[in-house]
Amino acid sequence: MEAEDRVKKPLDADIGLEALRAECAGCERCPLGKTRTNSVFGTGNPGARLMFVGEAPGEQEDLSGTPFVGRAGQLLDRFLFAVDIKREDVYIANILKCRPPKNRDPLPAEEDACMDWLRSQVRIIRPKIIVCLGRIAAMRLISPDYRISQQHGQWVEKGPFLMTAVFHPAALLRDPRRKADMLEDMKSIAAKLEELG
Ligand code: URA
Repeated sequence: MEAEDRVKKPLDADIGLEALRAECAGCERCPLGKTRTNSVFGTGNPGARLMFVGEAPGEQEDLSGTPFVGRAGQLLDRFLFAVDIKREDVYIANILKCRPPKNRDPLPAEEDACMDWLRSQVRIIRPKIIVCLGRIAAMRLISPDYRISQQHGQWVEKGPFLMTAVFHPAALLRDPRRKADMLEDMKSIAAKLEELG
């Protein structure tokens, strides 16, 4: 990449993402558009090399409009800190932009209706690495038969992206024994980021 491009890309990306965010705020492509408080578009560096994709906003995210700010998000922050990745350097989004009632799993039809937002985000940000947070994102983005307990931490090349999946932080809150695996996976992500330069 030319030096000029490195300077230009985040600015262009920023403008594109903000226009998309404004459009997403009024989205009614599925019934969740009627029940949300806020759409939760995504946050972070528009020029990020590393992107995390979770499942869907929870209560705190719905109230604040920001992904991963509740208990699960705070745990994610601790893992990022542990491997020296700054949250402001990465981009964080979800498969669904609106909270499903009582945090139930997203319905396939909701995912189908919402996926174009994520596709556009990825097209603008052009991350090198995409990390799925949990099984729902991994089944949607890596493979429909993804087994998170067996395949977490494995690297897969998909087009221009390197992809992997880690346990969802909410799953780690329910089963803290998996935190050691999460730390290893996060170390591998940090190392891959370093390796890619
Ligand atoms: N869980 C998710 O999958 N996404 C969030 O933004 C918060 C919790």
